[in-house]
Amino acid sequence: MIRMSAPHSAPSVRKAVVPAAGLGTRFLPATKATPKEMLPVVDKPAIQYVVEEAAAAGLDDVLMVTGRHKRAIEDHFDHAFELEQALAAKGDTVRLDAVRDPARLADIHHIRQGDPLGLGHAVLCARNHVGDQPFAVLLGDDLIDPRETLLSRMLEIRDRYAGSVVALMEVPPEQVHLYGCAAVEPSGEDGVVRVTGLVEKPAREDAPSRYAVIGRYVLDPAVFDVLERTAPGRGGEIQLTDALQELAAGGTVHGVIFSGRRYDTGDKADYLRTVVRLACDRPDLGPEFVAWLKEFVAGLEDGDADRERPAA
Ligand code: UTP
Repeated sequence: MIRMSAPHSAPSVRKAVVPAAGLGTRFLPATKATPKEMLPVVDKPAIQYVVEEAAAAGLDDVLMVTGRHKRAIEDHFDHAFELEQALAAKGDTVRLDAVRDPARLADIHHIRQGDPLGLGHAVLCARNHVGDQPFAVLLGDDLIDPRETLLSRMLEIRDRYAGSVVALMEVPPEQVHLYGCAAVEPSGEDGVVRVTGLVEKPAREDAPSRYAVIGRYVLDPAVFDVLERTAPGRGGEIQLTDALQELAAGGTVHGVIFSGRRYDTGDKADYLRTVVRLACDRPDLGPEFVAWLKEFVAGLEDGDADRERPAA
């Protein structure tokens, strides 16, 4: 195991890759003509939170891997001249900033994944842009609460241990089959483990642990050569987990254990929870919304949720 002596003074990772080319079948029909990454979470598309997280961790170059409907994502992170002019003419500076912010978050690039051949293939599409440097991958539909510092911690671990870093979350045994699952050993450091193996969506009885891989990675460029020769795996897709399994077998993958707030907006029930939780936390909407929500839930408990209620 290569262990670097001291953290770099300048961050060694500058680039983030955001795969957003999946079919989003779990969220049909909403995702028929809109990428699931563009579904609004309160008043911003999910993918904007993800790019904000990358920027907050100091990553100033973001490559979106897009598929069908790439226009919506491209347009969101571009300038909207007519809209900006109209808002400027009205003197509506708050909305003007909201419209301009996405394009100012980072240096944003786009690449097309022709066919959605899997997450591993989406990451491989970033090879030319990334080059021979470590890089972060943030799944475009996986939200980490803005108050968490998971990505910064992962970047710090990469700086100290080299190799690749995955984010792991302990899940109940009945949910393990929904994720990539990691076999781990202690690293000697609190909250950090050595990953010795990875298996994509194992049956409960085959799972090596309850540690699920969630949608944040800091990858060594060595992953690209492995992905080049990774055959389609589970579901006929080129799986990032399969490539990481090879790197893990070589002893170069660490896991950061995360127990904070994380939302899978590609799942309908989790999407609803995300919107409610983040709306409750918003200073501009929260107080009124929470008051309404309490009344609504009380109504559900009384069994009269159908009754028309006055707006809070
Ligand atoms: P998912 O596992 O959620 O798959 O992808 P999916 O196809 O998008 O959605 P469902 O399961 O059909 O509802 C995880 C992430 O990887 C991206 C997705 O956009 C999402 O951000 N992805 C997946 C790609 O970019 N390309 C692919 O070929 C597959």
